[in-house]
Amino acid sequence: MKAVISLGLALALGGVAMAADAVVVKPLPAGSVSASDGLAAWERINKVASHPRCSNCHVGADNVPRWSGIAGRADGKHGMNINAGVSRIGAEAIACSTCHVTSATPNDKPHAPPHADIPWQLAPVEFAWFGKTSREICLQLKNPGQNGGRNVTVLAHHLADDANHLGFIQWGWNPGGGREPVPFTLQATVNDVLTWGAAGMPCPAK
Ligand code: HEC
Ligand code: HEC
Repeated sequence: MKAVISLGLALALGGVAMAADAVVVKPLPAGSVSASDGLAAWERINKVASHPRCSNCHVGADNVPRWSGIAGRADGKHGMNINAGVSRIGAEAIACSTCHVTSATPNDKPHAPPHADIPWQLAPVEFAWFGKTSREICLQLKNPGQNGGRNVTVLAHHLADDANHLGFIQWGWNPGGGREPVPFTLQATVNDVLTWGAAGMPCPAK
């Protein structure tokens, strides 16, 4: 009886929090996936990573966030001469969080600065994806450690855990304000990362 009550409570709490809380990371045995299935999983991961909702923050050493893929905005650099500086949080000039308020409440108005519940900032330059090819992004993600399965498990956990913190990844799937979300679902992408890893992290020729 007690078990039934606490299960009910857990489900109720889960419902109050994010549906994304249910994201499951279930590593696959190394070698259990063919190279071609692994490559197919990678191409879906690349569609997420190179999507503007992700790559607009995952930019290179110019430290300039992008406004690509936003309806009504010409593709290009963040307006108002915003530069994140080497701090990647805008500490040198104007902090990103001045406009991108750290808040669990999304900013759903079109063309308003998006919110997340962790301080808004560019991704570290080692994770720059903007303007890169599928092969370049693939080699980059595969590089740290080169330790196969374990490496992708860490990556999969990063994606899944972000949802619990209402971070940028969760935002990418629920951007609001008329923005196009990244394709697939967070769970499907976590599964693809694990599938890609079990196939030995194959990268495409281009
Ligand atoms: C607001 C800017 C921003 C957006 C938008 C954003 N990221 Fe990031 N990303 C970051 C920052 C900052 C880090 C480094 C801190 C961290 O690891 O959490 C990061 C790190 C990462 C990492 C590396 C994690 C690791 O430790 O290996 C991955 C993978 C990632 N992001 C995926 C994504 C995906 C997928 C999307 C789109 C759905 C996305 N990011 C959107 C800022 C962003
Ligand atoms: C003066 C206010 C302001 C500051 C400061 C600011 N932003 Fe923005 N940012 C905006 C607005 C407004 C938008 C929405 C533009 C739109 O949707 O047309 C935006 C959008 C973005 C986007 C695009 C999101 C998407 O939909 O793909 C990124 C990435 C971004 N900002 C990153 C940053 C980073 C990183 C910093 C700090 C270096 C920063 N911004 C500082 C106002 C600001």
